[in-house]
Amino acid sequence: MTEIAIRTEGLGRSFGELRAVDGLTLEVPAGVIFGFLGPNGSGKTTTIRLLLGLLEPTAGQAWVLGHSVRQEAWAVRERAGALLEENGLYERLTAEENLEFYGRIYRLPKAERRARIRELLEHFGLWERRAEVVRTWSRGMRQKLALARALLHRPRILFLDEPTAGLDPVAAASLHEDLLSMVKGEGVTVFLTTHNLAEAEKLCALVGVIRQGRLLAVGTPEELQARGQGTEVQVVGSGFTSELLAALEARPEVLEVASSDGGNALRIRLQRGAPMAPLVAQMVQAGAAIEEVYKRRASLEETFLQLVEEKEG
Ligand SMILES: Nc1ncnc2c1ncn2[C@@H]1O[C@H](COP(=O)(O)OP(=O)(O)OP(=O)(O)O)[C@@H](O)[C@H]1O
Ligand SMILES: [Mg+2]
Repeated sequence: MTEIAIRTEGLGRSFGELRAVDGLTLEVPAGVIFGFLGPNGSGKTTTIRLLLGLLEPTAGQAWVLGHSVRQEAWAVRERAGALLEENGLYERLTAEENLEFYGRIYRLPKAERRARIRELLEHFGLWERRAEVVRTWSRGMRQKLALARALLHRPRILFLDEPTAGLDPVAAASLHEDLLSMVKGEGVTVFLTTHNLAEAEKLCALVGVIRQGRLLAVGTPEELQARGQGTEVQVVGSGFTSELLAALEARPEVLEVASSDGGNALRIRLQRGAPMAPLVAQMVQAGAAIEEVYKRRASLEETFLQLVEEKEG
């Protein structure tokens, strides 16, 4: 049986008339990276704040590592690391003082605290600059320090709200490695939000898509992609006449045909599961010369856009 790290039942939070999170029912198994995807203002940060017990739900229930966020928020926060939109750093303290401060809050013994702070600052390439006040730091440097802060007490579960926003590509790739190795090596669970769908595709074993507070879909990135609108097939060759295009488009399983590459390629959108062979036969019969036929899987980004736009209203 898989252990469940996060469970919500009809979780909701309203602000006046606005339902920022609306009847969220979700299970996230332990030891995976879960990607929470959704447009601006869809309720992602609000959900994280609810799960950390920083905000009272107005409906439903949630449990993190088995602890109720309503009744045992302290237990959740003790076991969780979090990087929120506001990074929680003290501008007038140095990097080291910031981590020192949080290390005390987490009651890490002095020697362990020192060692862990050094380890993390070195890991993020900030050790040399530990005595500088955070106020003077760049956005990416602060983001790294905030991540170090979130990891300080070796949490079992990490909530990361757009963790790579502001990081350069090298730093982002290195954070990806860190997250994957924490999940693989230590069984940490990660709940993250990102607007970078390629990042979600690379990292997340499971993703959820939320819009206007409502969960639209949950699954592996592959499952979501498979749920997208049909299959896209690319055909490269020549002799794609307008008559042929019209004849193809008239077939019931064909949703759309578009010519590209100056008439040397066709993009055909097919109903999911429809066979390609009859179309190829028809093309050949009509005198087209076919060099290549390949199926293109929709990227998570395309699937995401379909999902959030399609059900609008
Ligand atoms: N404290 C609050 N008071 C009133 N409204 C709020 C409050 N917090 C959030 N909201 C509203 O709830 C909705 C969801 O906000 P939230 O910050 O969760 O979105 P998000 O998905 O994190 O968006 P983004 O991708 O832009 O970070 C928004 O309409 C926002 O204005
Ligand atoms: Mg947000």
